[in-house]
Amino acid sequence: MKPTILVTGATGFIGLELSRYLAAQGLKPRLLVRRPDRTLLVSGLDATVVPGDLQDPASLDRAVRGVDTIIHLGGRALFERYELVQGTLLQGSVALMRAAIQANVGSFIFASSLLTYASQSEVIDAATPLQPQGGYGRAKAEAEHILEEMAKTAGMRLAILRLPHTYGPGSLLFDQIRRGWMFQPGPGTNVYSHMHVHDSARLLTEVALSNWSGSSPVADAQPCTWRDFFRVCREFYPYFRYLRLPYGLALGGAALAEGFFGLLRRPAMMTRDAIRSFNLNLAVQPGLVWDDLGLNPEFPTVREGLADVVCRSMPFAWRPSVHDRCRCYLDKGGCPVNEPPEKI
Ligand SMILES: NC(=O)c1ccc[n+]([C@@H]2O[C@H](COP(=O)([O-])OP(=O)(O)OC[C@H]3O[C@@H](n4cnc5c(N)ncnc54)[C@H](OP(=O)(O)O)[C@@H]3O)[C@@H](O)[C@H]2O)c1
Repeated sequence: MKPTILVTGATGFIGLELSRYLAAQGLKPRLLVRRPDRTLLVSGLDATVVPGDLQDPASLDRAVRGVDTIIHLGGRALFERYELVQGTLLQGSVALMRAAIQANVGSFIFASSLLTYASQSEVIDAATPLQPQGGYGRAKAEAEHILEEMAKTAGMRLAILRLPHTYGPGSLLFDQIRRGWMFQPGPGTNVYSHMHVHDSARLLTEVALSNWSGSSPVADAQPCTWRDFFRVCREFYPYFRYLRLPYGLALGGAALAEGFFGLLRRPAMMTRDAIRSFNLNLAVQPGLVWDDLGLNPEFPTVREGLADVVCRSMPFAWRPSVHDRCRCYLDKGGCPVNEPPEKI
């Protein structure tokens, strides 16, 4: 029998891709939606929508009833101060786990982050000790620790995947790249791990359907520097320009932006924590968790992944140049326009 899977954060960037993927697999997921107006985003899917808020325990009790597995993505996923993010990332996760234990949910999959690690001179593997970065990394690491204790006591299967930078159509980064320019804060020579959002959704699904438990960083098959990431973007989207900002200047600008958005009571995207995070060396050993499940990323490097994202999300006028350069598709025997529509 197919398990009933609850997805939190279903209307977010990764959650939406995951919800689509689960629905396409015929798993009819249950989707926790916080803002009623965002139900529209998932209304076309073969899924059930339940209203709920991580900060409203009664709504969580209702949402988890009869659920076999939870894939927990929801929360204020921004590089902000600890006081601003811990209410959802930490307290909300603990409240969800409490409700899950009460309802005898069998498995809990938690989307954590590479920002639970400090900058590394070696690749990160499952044995690398945690050293959280910024308020966001701290809230995630604390949530991991408490969820582990709770799951152990309750005898529940817990899988913690520390996701790398996840990119895809609709991500905040690509929203900026679509505009044709962005600042690269710092030299961009640090090595970072990435993953295409489709592979994040696939991996979360496969872990949910398996018996895999434990905690591990995950990524695609090849970390790269930000400089390379943007260079590949530009190769596929020549209209795009990135401007290098010296690190100190970027930090100063971010401090001003934080103050400005703070006055408007709106979240700032480019915070000082975001600039610092961007400049860490966070390269994950390829194959972690993927190998355990006998799988490979569909987009093993940013070369394949960015080609796909540019094809899907950039203005139509630029597509011919993308097709010419899109080696991964050419190697597969054709450009994306010749592929069946569901693969585009
Ligand atoms: N994207 C990455 O590169 C990346 C990397 C590592 C880890 N992660 C983790 O992966 C998860 C998903 O990331 P994302 O990029 O998809 O984030 P996102 O686009 O910001 O989505 C966050 C989701 O959480 C929901 N949410 C926020 N507060 C909530 C609350 N109080 N109750 C219930 N739901 C709430 C949001 O609902 P609304 O739609 O109503 O706002 C949204 O659906 C996050 O936990 C993040 O920390 C992401």
